[in-house]
Amino acid sequence: LIESNTRKSLNCFFHIFLSLIQPTQSQVELLKKVKGCDGILCVLTEKIDAQLLEAAGPNLKVVSTMSVGFDHLSLDELKKRGIRVGYTPDVLTDCVAELTVALLLATSRRLIEATHEAKTGGWGTWRTLWLCGHELANSTVGILGLGRIGVAIAERLKPFKVKKFIYTDVAPRPELANMIEAEYVSFDELAKQSDFLAVCCALTPETHGICNWNLFSKMKKNAIFINTSRGGVVNQEDLYEALSTGLIAGAGLDVTTPEPLPTHHPLFTLKNCVILPHIASASYTTRNAMSALAANNLLAGLRGEPMPKELKL
Ligand code: DGY
Repeated sequence: LIESNTRKSLNCFFHIFLSLIQPTQSQVELLKKVKGCDGILCVLTEKIDAQLLEAAGPNLKVVSTMSVGFDHLSLDELKKRGIRVGYTPDVLTDCVAELTVALLLATSRRLIEATHEAKTGGWGTWRTLWLCGHELANSTVGILGLGRIGVAIAERLKPFKVKKFIYTDVAPRPELANMIEAEYVSFDELAKQSDFLAVCCALTPETHGICNWNLFSKMKKNAIFINTSRGGVVNQEDLYEALSTGLIAGAGLDVTTPEPLPTHHPLFTLKNCVILPHIASASYTTRNAMSALAANNLLAGLRGEPMPKELKL
């Protein structure tokens, strides 16, 4: 990540906390380790809140997160203290979009159930409706929160002969929507029209729990719900109800609340729910790019230079 000589020379001048090199087991441990730091390089499981910033003390100049999401950072508290923030957009877009498509297909074509049946003796004679799922051809794909990742997902899904892309967001985003010929619709229309609904919005106070009974109850019976953004946007009790009663056909989740999701969680009992352990950006290429960008953001911040990717507070 940072060559050891660079690290040594940096440490002569700065006291930095590098989560990737010294992974923390708990927030308590993190609170102890950050004391006196000039910079923090963190990952998305580390909460950078008022308590942590107090524990770090007045030397802290920069927080660099190795993630595109920043819901684990208390931006108001950081701004108040004049601490600069780096994050890692763009470098993970392709990887996250690719995983989203994989999860969508695994869920809609019931791949996990199918391999389980094949391995455990459920594979009998060929039957007409056995393990039937839903196909993308002629479908309507809805995107909740159109950004770089939503566009990249749509670009990958287009060759599957999707009929129409629709999206909703706080406002229309014509420059992005034009790239994929997506139509702006209301939240309710997104729910009603989508055969596949991909959640791509950031977790904010406004989007917290936005995917709840109100959304699921308006969706089609054949609809597939996919979330690779943050678990907090989904009301999991409502999702469980929607899936277990057949209100919607299936869900693929790369993110949950909490993470890890306890193995006894009711969602794990459902055949129509595919759950992955937050691996959307997990390719060697992307994780290398994310860690290099996070390190370069940190170094630029420490030197008082423009960061390659700075979050404007
Ligand atoms: C991020 O970077 O925020 C993603 O969730 C990683 O997969």
